This record gives sequence, C-alpha cells and structure tokens, in this order.
Amino acid sequence: MKKVIIRKTEEIENWRRNINSEINFIPTMGNLHNGHIKLISTAKNDNSNVNLVSIFINPLQFDNKVDLENYPKTIDNDIKISFAHGADAIFIPSTEDIYPPNNKNIKFLKAPKDLSSALCGLNRTGHFDGVCTVVYRLLNLIKPKNLYLGEKDWQQLLILKNLVLTKKLNVSIKSIPTQRDFDGIPLSSRNVHLSKNERKLIRFFSSELLEAKKNFQQEKKINLKEIIKKLSSKKILIEYLEHLHPHTLQTARLEDNISLLAGAIRCGETRLIDHVFLMKRRPIIAIDGPAGSGKSTVTKFIAKKLKLLYLDTGSMYRALSWLLIKENIDYKKEKKLQNVLKDISIVFKSNTNSYQDVFINNYCVTEEIRSQEISSIVSKISSIKEVRKFLVKEQRKIGESGGLVAEGRDIGTTVFPHAELKIFLTASIDERAKRRKSDKNSKESQEIDLHTLKELIKKRDFEDSTREISPLIKANDAIEIITDGYSINEVVDKIIDLYNDKIPKETQIQ
Ligand code: PAF
Repeated sequence: MKKVIIRKTEEIENWRRNINSEINFIPTMGNLHNGHIKLISTAKNDNSNVNLVSIFINPLQFDNKVDLENYPKTIDNDIKISFAHGADAIFIPSTEDIYPPNNKNIKFLKAPKDLSSALCGLNRTGHFDGVCTVVYRLLNLIKPKNLYLGEKDWQQLLILKNLVLTKKLNVSIKSIPTQRDFDGIPLSSRNVHLSKNERKLIRFFSSELLEAKKNFQQEKKINLKEIIKKLSSKKILIEYLEHLHPHTLQTARLEDNISLLAGAIRCGETRLIDHVFLMKRRPIIAIDGPAGSGKSTVTKFIAKKLKLLYLDTGSMYRALSWLLIKENIDYKKEKKLQNVLKDISIVFKSNTNSYQDVFINNYCVTEEIRSQEISSIVSKISSIKEVRKFLVKEQRKIGESGGLVAEGRDIGTTVFPHAELKIFLTASIDERAKRRKSDKNSKESQEIDLHTLKELIKKRDFEDSTREISPLIKANDAIEIITDGYSINEVVDKIIDLYNDKIPKETQIQ
C-alpha cells in the first residue's frame, strides 16, 4: 500500500473511501518517542487494518501559552518514525483545519466533572475539555475501528473511554502500558526540556512510586505521608499525590483490589506525571453459566490467551462425586461425609495436550468424570452443604493470589464475589443440546437423542437454579453473554475486550 500524508480534512473522506479497510487510529501531538512507536507497532501487529497516525498540537488542551509555544516540534522526524514503524498514513492538519473559524459545526465538549476535576484537572483548567474536543473531532473525521492510547495518561484514557461511551461512538479503545526510559522515568515528549538535575529528581519520584508498589504487594497498605515526606526532602515540588480507585478516581477504598497511586511534580518549568497500580492480588475472572453454555471451552481459551490459571470448579464437583460413588460412601450422612472430606485432595496438572488433568487423591479422573453416571449425580452431590463448603474453601485457596479465570455456577456470587470481571455465559436450550451432542469429549452425549438431551439439560438447570445452597444465579454485577450464533473465538474475544477495558495493561505484565 502506498504510504500517504494527508494535510486537509477534506482529503480524509476520499482516502477513507479508497482504502477498503478498517482503520487503526493513533492520535499524537508529535515529537514521537518510543512510547508512540509502541502504540504504532502494537496497532500494526494487532490486525491487518490500515494504520493512521495523526500529528496535531491541539491548542485547546494547553492551559499555558508558554507551554504551547515551547512544545517540541519535530515533524520531519515524526513522519520518518511513523512510516518506519507501521503507519500507512499520516494526518497532519493545521489548526484552521481542525477548528475552522466561524464553523458552527465544531462541537466544543466538556469533560465529565467527576473524572476531570481530580488529579491533572486540579491545576489544568480546560485541559480535558480540549482533549475531548479534539479527539471527538478526529474520530468523527477518521471513523476508525480502533483507537490506540497509552496508559501513561491514565486519566485521559478514562475520560476518552467515557467519551466513546456517552457519545455512543463505534470505536474500541486499545491501551498500552506506560513505556519507560532506560532509567525508569515514563517516556514523555516534554522530557527533552529536563536538565540533568531535573531528570535526577523525576527518576527519584518514579522510583519512589515503584517502591510503594513493591511494598504494597507485601503489606497491602500504603503510607502517603511517608512518600510525600521523602519527596519533599529532595525538594521535589509535588502538585498532587493521590491514592485512588482506578476507574472512578475517588479515594481508594479498603476493599479495592486494584488501586491507583498517581502523582504530578514540577521540575523547573516542566510538569511531569507518573503513576503505578497497586494490587493486593492478581485479577480474577469469574465465568458462571448453565451446562452447555460453552463456558469450559471459552474459559480454557481465555486462560491460555491471558496467561491465567484455569480453575474448572465443575471438575472438582465431578471428581468428588466420582470418589463418593466409587467408594460407596453414604454422602447423606453428615459425619461420615465430613470425615471423608478431611482426607481429600483435588489438584489440576497441565498435560501434554496443553489441557489439564484433574486428580483426586492422586488418581487421574479426567476421563471418568465425564460419564453420564457422574453427569446425572453431580448436581445432587454439589447441593450438599458440606461438599460446597469444602470445595469453595479449596477454590478460594487456589485463588488466593489471583491470576486466574474460574468457571462454575457460583463463582461470581459465592467463591470470588470480588472478582474483577464477572461473566454470565448462557445459550438457549436448543443450542446447548446441539453443542452437547457434537461434544467429542462426551461419547455418551453423542449417543443420546437430541430430545432426551434437551430434557436432561432442563432438569439440570432446574436442579442447579433451585438448590438451597449457592444456586446458579447471575451475580448483580455480572455481564450476561448469550452465545447463540456466536463462534467460540467471538465470545473469547468479547470477554478479553471486557477484561482489557477493566484491567490496566500495566497490571497484566508478568
Ligand atoms: O495524549 C496526547 O498526545 C493528546 O492528548 C492527544 C490524545 C493526541 C489529543 O491531542
């Protein structure tokens, strides 16, 4: 494809009509550094869309004239860098092009107060209004499928996600983690203004944030005053340093698993921001749903793609049912059952087929627990109070440090009520019966006729959703996905998009 530079807004429309492809859009204000390069190359590697980089220093987002005048302008180099790293087109409009004088069609937007009045909004009046106005204008001109933004400006990212949502724009936002220089300071176009001494100060600031993150992992708490004292002792001018909820930007609460520690400092004329995410444990995805909704297959793929542990709680109930039947244990007798449970160990081990085997008391039962005999009894056994209590405890132990995706029927409601993302996966009875029939892992299902399979599924649904303990119900904060008519990959991608929207990419780096 011929690489092009577009300078007029009118040319965009023509170009868009000719390319015959979806667009990845990477907005910038120029003076490109490795952070921008990462954005462009991520977009390039994500898909086969056409990549458009815009370079436009937006006067509306500068609250300080000197800052605007001094903003580094390196257009020739920016063009070279963009094309070298995956841009197919570069849009370099003039201010008059973006904001034609007297054009009543330009919408000057206001950023939402709750998100824009905190942090950088405290001292940069109108900054986020300017960002919203220019991005909205650019999105309407370019109409991209994906918008790529850095997490370095986390507050900007939240405000732009909100813009896309409230204006119902048909674009998905993809973010990349903050990119840091060799000495740990976040890459920023304004870094060129730093003197040697100022750079030393920002390095100290960034390393203090990182230190706080490490300490938080151990101690699960943070001492803001202590950090402020340390920064002040180096004569660092702190504009703000706040510990906040990562999405609402309200003060962090004790129960927040992921929180944001964000600060801005002044070094001479230059103002710099940095942040870290504090995490008590790694994130958890809870996937609940009825039998045959596709949750096992979907969960396995998600675990693999996001490099999370796969916790198949259904297999745990099946394995336990298998043992109780095999050893002829009268599970209706509470005392007897309690005694048996004391000595039970259920573990998962990856096998060579890149799946996992389930072992109960060191016996591999992966195949045997899929029999119709177990299918017909597992709901009953899993409704026993002692059984649930025991397995929920085991599941929580496995999930203690997070980093997992768990599937079952009570994950979001009972096992991990604080999971970061809760999905309720379901499908019509017809669809689920069809899937069961073609399930290569279940020979018995293949042998049963479709009508009987539907009746069995209905019976299982009824038992699961009416049992007294941990019935199958959708958690209030779960997102329901009806999978009829969708391929496995489509469902997996949808859940991964939801995960990426909630969980900062920075916390996903291992
Ligand atoms: O992050 C930036 O560089 C700018 O705020 C943006 C998104 C290009 C809008 O001018």
